[in-house]
Amino acid sequence: MKITVTNTLQSADTIVLPLFEGQESISSKLLSEQDATTITAWIAAKKVSGKAKEVFFLPTPLSASQSVIVMGFGKKEDCNNDTVRQGAGNVQKTLKTQKIATVLFDADLTVCPQCPAAFVEGVLLGNYSHDLKTDDRSEAIELSEIAIFAETATSDVQAAVEIAEICANGANFARDLSNAPGNKMTPTILAEEAVKLAKETGIKSTILGEKEMEELKMGSLLAVSRGSEEEAKLIVLEYTHPEATKTIAMVGKGLTFDAGGISLKPGAGMWEMIYDMCGGAAVLGGMHAIARIKPKVNVIAVVPSSENMPDGKAVKPGDVVTASNGKTIEVLNTDAEGRLILADALVYTVNTYKPDRMVDLATLTGACIVALGHLLGAVMSKSDELVADLTKAGDETHERLWRMPLNDEFKEFLKGNTADLANITGPVGAGTVTAGCFLSGFVGDTEWAHLDIAGT
Ligand code: BES
Ligand code: ZN
Ligand code: ZN
Repeated sequence: MKITVTNTLQSADTIVLPLFEGQESISSKLLSEQDATTITAWIAAKKVSGKAKEVFFLPTPLSASQSVIVMGFGKKEDCNNDTVRQGAGNVQKTLKTQKIATVLFDADLTVCPQCPAAFVEGVLLGNYSHDLKTDDRSEAIELSEIAIFAETATSDVQAAVEIAEICANGANFARDLSNAPGNKMTPTILAEEAVKLAKETGIKSTILGEKEMEELKMGSLLAVSRGSEEEAKLIVLEYTHPEATKTIAMVGKGLTFDAGGISLKPGAGMWEMIYDMCGGAAVLGGMHAIARIKPKVNVIAVVPSSENMPDGKAVKPGDVVTASNGKTIEVLNTDAEGRLILADALVYTVNTYKPDRMVDLATLTGACIVALGHLLGAVMSKSDELVADLTKAGDETHERLWRMPLNDEFKEFLKGNTADLANITGPVGAGTVTAGCFLSGFVGDTEWAHLDIAGT
């Protein structure tokens, strides 16, 4: 997709014009006098109102561009990234049904450089698709160019649009990794994708296999992988900036398929566990963007990746394993495997990189979906500042988070019969919180937050 910011007039298949609620006409340099009159008439006839996320498609076959899309921006005082992004998603649907290949957006009608950036982000996210169907699509027209016309503040718009494009591409990269089925996204393939990303962007990659994990005594991660024919991998990417004074670490659960192991999941819906590597995908998607934005901070991405399968060699309920920090863990349910692979990954990250801040992302518990559904993720941390920063970032990007507690009292429920820890609790409820508490035993004093993204 070609994305450009220009201060000179150019042609496109359609022009997109923002309209605020209450506006009675549109005056745009991109619009012919005749089309402007037509739109004003439609506004007067109340067929188009500028309400947030509204899309009004007007064919203009006699003009240079063959159509105009009037995009509702809502009330000027309420305008935010989210309305524009979601409105742009609606515009994208129209572009698709109307078979439009090139778009010209009038940024001079918006309120700030963030608006055209959010437009680009929304169209790129909306335009994403993933399937392996082989039907004939020769008739389909792909969107090939988004041009932003900004006669004023051209360089500010350019800078914001560049970041939006990078972020949307990072998100779509994460979606590609996530949507790939389990047979096409094994730990080895996920590791190859990470290495490819590192080579593309010039960052460092290190992939640990099971032999290296054994040397590091990662008995918890290795236990999960034992029932699988696929080798587990610990994927590590390092982005460094010469002027950085801080290091942050992101750790993502990369279970490429979670059958539950010997504590086998029910058959209905089991296929959805191809998405049990979404935490890992999010971390790699983040790195995809960070390596291109190049912020002045060091960022480490760590993805423990494995399958969780039943097999004669698989870890069994009741087995006791030893994690790389020396703690013994009673595996009472092999389906609570996310915390087992994360335990060794968190220890590794803390010991190797001593990050100033660490965040893990994991599709960790079904209980999180019971609590928050599919609209918000859970955030757990002892650091109010880190929770505040993550919640703010989530609000800005529509990746919303809701805080859950991490009281040490819950740790009582995780004591093992014969080991330091059990990987599940008795019937005490709070499944998302107790999972977070389990992880807290593997982060030392690091400022750390756990995000349960099972629902989102
Ligand atoms: N990957 C699942 C959690 C999950 C469930 C994610 C549904 C997305 C949708 C995780 O490994 C798991 O199976 N957790 C168990 C934990 C339980 C055994 C304590 C769960 O939530 O049932
Ligand atoms: Zn599981
Ligand atoms: Zn899982």
